[in-house]
Order: sequence, then structure tokens, then C-alpha cells
Amino acid sequence: MIIQPRMRGFICLTAHPEGAEKNVKEQIEYVKSKGTVEGGPKKALIIGASTGFGLASRITAAYGSGASTIGVFFEKEPSEGKTASPGWYNSAAFEKFATADGLYAKSINGDAFSDEIKQQTIDLIKKDLGQVDVIIYSLASPVRTNPRTGVTHRSVLKPIGQTYTNKTVDFHTGNVSEVSIAPANEEDIANTIAVMGGEDWKWWIEDLKKAGVLADNVLTIAYSYIGPGLTEAVYRKGTIGRAKDDLEATAFQISDTLKDIGGKAYVSVNKALVTQASSAIPVIPLYISLLFKTMKDAGTHEGTIEQIDRLFRERLYTNGEVPTDEKGRIRIDDWEMDDKIQDKIEELWKSASTETLPELGDLKGYSHEFHKLFGFEMPGVNYDDDANEMVWVDSLK
Ligand code: NAI
Ligand code: NA
Repeated sequence: MIIQPRMRGFICLTAHPEGAEKNVKEQIEYVKSKGTVEGGPKKALIIGASTGFGLASRITAAYGSGASTIGVFFEKEPSEGKTASPGWYNSAAFEKFATADGLYAKSINGDAFSDEIKQQTIDLIKKDLGQVDVIIYSLASPVRTNPRTGVTHRSVLKPIGQTYTNKTVDFHTGNVSEVSIAPANEEDIANTIAVMGGEDWKWWIEDLKKAGVLADNVLTIAYSYIGPGLTEAVYRKGTIGRAKDDLEATAFQISDTLKDIGGKAYVSVNKALVTQASSAIPVIPLYISLLFKTMKDAGTHEGTIEQIDRLFRERLYTNGEVPTDEKGRIRIDDWEMDDKIQDKIEELWKSASTETLPELGDLKGYSHEFHKLFGFEMPGVNYDDDANEMVWVDSLK
């Protein structure tokens, strides 16, 4: 099958297996080039392991310190005439490489919010690893069915209190326009917290602990975002921000739960990056295109793998205290939030328009990163050729 990108709004309906494989390979090579993560994880569970920060976490655990990894994700298998979702190809590629390199890697494809998938994961840990020493929680989802109430919650990306108007960009066309987003109501806020807050993370850790599959001194990390004043109405002070407040508060509760085995829960605040999740938030793509341009000019730009590699080496596994901010959060958004970077973006923001953005911002870089998420625009892949069918590792079928 010849596979080309087919865009619909903020999503791409197709994904390319060989491009995905190249993308995974590039990330593996990056981590290998940095050498061993001394004292790094040996047995890792990654929830949300197939794309974005979760995939980078799996790769860093495996190739930084030789960790056995179990990845949980929710991805679409390929079917007659239809490609798989990108995370499926990424995971197939990861398992292929890891297994060839003598690293244990197995995956569970299903709804991580459900009790069934938690139980399957526990059974697999018991059977193959005994215990895990790190759990990365990196889910990004618009919907969650709470298994205890049966209620399905849908998250929204809205401001709170008043309508918010600002510029945004359609990164496919480069068109800069003004967008107005009506404020959320209380139900929207509660639903967004139910989907993207900390409850499911806490339930995972409670279930894993009850099952006895957590090693002494276990670590668990979830990912958060803060961002600048420019985006705060729609992000940190909006519905998603309320969910992140909840997630961050949950870290302390989980740490209490883990005290008797010496374990600890952290939230790491990461940099804004092009992922499927962030592309769907109005205003953010314009911010990211200015951010990328400014950070590339300053020589401090990072992608997901550089971020997570730095998280492991310079924050989590240093043989010393884990450095945190006054709210107990790990900060690897430090280079993004640097005053010089943010001052520059604020200045650029004022003059950003359809005409000026190609010059002021990194629209090309944004679009390229977006295509890369789906395995497109990867060097060395001929997209006019039939894509080689990738054989899904048996255990995943
Ligand atoms: P992503 O969309 O690339 O990855 C989401 C992962 O969750 C995928 O592996 C997907 O299969 C999995 N998933 C979704 N629903 C699932 C379900 N029901 N069951 C099992 N797996 C499911 O997202 P990204 O951007 O890597 O986000 C991960 C975390 O990082 C989120 O908490 C996000 O808020 C946070 N973050 C993202 C930033 C960004 O700019 N993208 C910045 C800072 C933090
Ligand atoms: Na992820």
C-alpha cells in the first residue's frame, strides 16, 4: 500500500510504518549517544507509552539503563486498506529494536482507565518481571470512562470565568486568525479533571501496590505543563490547568501511599511540544511556532527525547536529591520559561500575522514535527513506494 498523509483538521488519518520506525530509531540513537544513565531504572512500566513523552520515556528507560519495559497504550491496529495509528507502528518498531538488542519489551493495547487493563498489566508484571521500579504515567486522552461509576467523562479545553480571545494559527495553511473561546461551566471543569486529573494515576498505583508488584524505593512520574502568561487563559488557568492542579496535588497523596516502601511520586513539568494532544488546543500552536523559532535561535531547543533524557539524567537519577520547585514539581521546562526566551516571544506575538509568521515563527518546523508524529517527512523513506508491511510482534496480537 502507498501511504500518504491524509489530514482532517488537527488529525492525520494515516500513518507510515517505516517512517514511524525511523522516528523510533532516531530516538534510540539519541539516548545511546548520551551513554548510560547511572542508577537508572531496570524494570519500567510506562502508561501512555506509544507516542509523545511516554514513548520517549520508554526509549530512555530501555536504552539509557537497559530497563525491561512494559508499555500500555490505546492504539488502532492496521486493518484492510487502513493504516494503524502511529503509536501502534511506533510500539511495533520499539519492540522489534528492543528485542533484537536483548531488552525485554512487551505491550498491552487497551483502555488504561479500565480495571481489566490494570489487572492484565499486573498479571504480566507478576509473570515476567516480578516488580517494577518506575511507573511513568503519560496518558493524554479526551475521554475516560470511570470504571467505578460507569460514567464517561469528556474533557474540554476552555477558559474559566470569561470568554477568551487571542490569536491562533492553522499550522496547515499558516493562516493567523483571532479565536474566541466561550468559558467552561462547572460540569466542564469537573469532567476535564476526571479525565486528565490524578484519580486514575492514584488508582493505578494503589492497585499495583496491593498486588505487591512495586519494588522498594519505587518512583512514579506524571507529566504536567505550566507555560507563560500568553497561554494561561486557555491552558494553566483553563479547564486543563485545573486538571493539572489536581494531578500535581495527587502526587503528594501517592507519595503518602508509597511511604512505607520508600517510594515517591513526582510531577515533571515539561516543555510545550508538538504532539497530537497539544495540536488540538487553540492558541498553543502559534505559541509553539514562536517558541521553537526563539529556542532554536538561542540553541536551547529540545524535542521529546531530549527532554526526557535530561529528566532522567539530570533530575530523577542523579544519586542525589531530586531537585524540585517550591511546589515539589520537577522542572524541565526551565529552558522554555527562561526570561530571555519569554520576553522575545511576547514581543514577536504582537506582530505575528499570516504575513509575518513565516518569518517570525517556525511554522515549517511545526508542520514538520506534526508530520513526523505520523511517520511522514522522515529522511530516507520513499513515500511513493509501497510501504513495507510491518509485522506486529506476536505478543501484541
Ligand atoms: P500523546 O498524545 O503523544 O500520548 C498519549 C498516550 O496516551 C499515547 O500513548 C496513547 O496511546 C495513550 N492513551 C490515550 N488514551 C488512552 C487510554 N484510554 N488507554 C491507554 N492509553 C491511552 O500525548 P503527550 O503530549 O505525550 O502527553 C503526555 C502527557 O504529557 C500528558 O499528561 C500531557 O498533558 C503532558 N504534557 C504534554 C506537553 C505537550 O506539549 N505535548 C507539555 C507538557 C506536558
Ligand atoms: Na505519551
